[in-house]
Amino acid sequence: MEHFYLTLLLLFVSFVTLSLFILFYNHWSKYTNPNLPPGRAGLPIVGETFQLLSPGWKGHPEKFIFDRMLRYSSNIFKTHILGRPFAVFCGPAGNKFLFSNENKLVTSWWPDSVNKVFPTSVLTSSQHESKKMRKLLPQFLKLEALQSYIGIMDTTAQRHFASDWENKDEVVVYPLAKRYTFWIASRIFISVEDPDHVAQFAAPFNLLASGLLSLPVDLPGTPFNKAIKASSFIRKELLKIIKQRKVDLAEGKALPTHDILSHMLLTSDENGQFMTELDIADKILGLLIAGHDTASAACTFIVKSLAELPHIYEGVYREQVEIAKSKAPGELLNWDDIQKMRYSWNVACEALRLAPPLQGAFREAITDFIFNGFSIPKGWKLYWSANSTHKNPEYFPEPEKFDPARFEGNGPAPYTFVPFGGGPRMCPGKEYARLEILVFMHNLVKRFKLEKKLPDEKIVVDPMPIPAKGLPVRLYPHKA
Ligand code: HEM
Repeated sequence: MEHFYLTLLLLFVSFVTLSLFILFYNHWSKYTNPNLPPGRAGLPIVGETFQLLSPGWKGHPEKFIFDRMLRYSSNIFKTHILGRPFAVFCGPAGNKFLFSNENKLVTSWWPDSVNKVFPTSVLTSSQHESKKMRKLLPQFLKLEALQSYIGIMDTTAQRHFASDWENKDEVVVYPLAKRYTFWIASRIFISVEDPDHVAQFAAPFNLLASGLLSLPVDLPGTPFNKAIKASSFIRKELLKIIKQRKVDLAEGKALPTHDILSHMLLTSDENGQFMTELDIADKILGLLIAGHDTASAACTFIVKSLAELPHIYEGVYREQVEIAKSKAPGELLNWDDIQKMRYSWNVACEALRLAPPLQGAFREAITDFIFNGFSIPKGWKLYWSANSTHKNPEYFPEPEKFDPARFEGNGPAPYTFVPFGGGPRMCPGKEYARLEILVFMHNLVKRFKLEKKLPDEKIVVDPMPIPAKGLPVRLYPHKA
């Protein structure tokens, strides 16, 4: 009997050893090609995911990149994150290479979690879906359309400040900035403007946004599970709006040019196929996500800088009051006013440099290629990081200093300031974001001076940079 148990134990130990050997061998063998970029594979499965995320939780997302740029190479290193081998492209050379080889050597890629939260993307592949999205957007983000949004943004901002900021001594900025950008997106994309209806959507959107890039563990209570549920709830609500809009269009109650939703319903592809209702719901969902969380993180950091740096506040205040004085009572902001907000936009850019809402983006190698003398195998996942240049003293001297003058004249060197990416995949919402951010700054500084309530509030990057307590500030209204 004793022998039997001993044999069983030996078999078990051999099995575990063999499994571990296979696991480690499989993991590391992907990295044995001598011409791969330098770097580490880390542990099997998790790789260096924890090393990547943990400095972000402490407010220093650039640490992972800079440590490896220093140790291995300033242009590229390999790692293993999100369960896969990755090559991280760094500096202006890395950015330029990825941005200018879209669909030649690389294409966009999203982690599995994103595809699971947006199920229709899985049916056709997210690449195909994002191409469709790119085709639809110009109609809504072209100059004429953007110009017509400024008045809507200004009206929405005035209503937002009246209901959420005025007559208050203190506010928490981040949730309010989210309400502002979400209200505008709901109004411009799907013409939902009733604040109660907007609010009904907003809560599940927050769950969706925070679970989108979380660990893809679909168990009750995990952020990923909550995101999937939230996405299904929002999709159902959007489907109701889509069905109603179809009726309104058929009865002539809505104009074909009404908003992005009507456009999606009425536009067929090159084969005469119209998008399905579910497909439209997913596209709108994607746009609402892409379009509001990023801009609200940017608005929050702008407020943070205005509250911390009186001389920056003064510059923005002077510029905005000048514009406000030139308007007739009740007259809304327009395109010409926006063009005059040069200093304010430099301040916004400096906030985007120091706290880029998206830290970078993913790509996939569609063929074997060489970069900087190193081989990149087909199928490898790639990453570009805004911080590899934004926080680099070579391109931005004293990188931690808030200095909007960096954007005067010719501004930063090419491929060094990349909060919106670059090349054919550059954020299509860049101009829209510029407008809503400037309209926000105008309405804010016209009304208040601000003071941070927590002078040493920590910044947490998970995955967007956000002040840990949402940036509570004291408001000091200007005397009339
Ligand atoms: C401050 C605000 C914003 C920032 C910092 C930002 C940044 C970015 C970045 C870095 C990318 C990825 C580019 C790449 O893959 O290399 C992106 C993609 C995208 N953004 Fe934005 N964005 C902002 C606002 C918006 C807004 C307001 C909209 C919609 C109106 C929008 C729509 C999109 C879409 C649809 C994509 C995907 C494009 C594609 O895959 O081809 N973004 N954005």
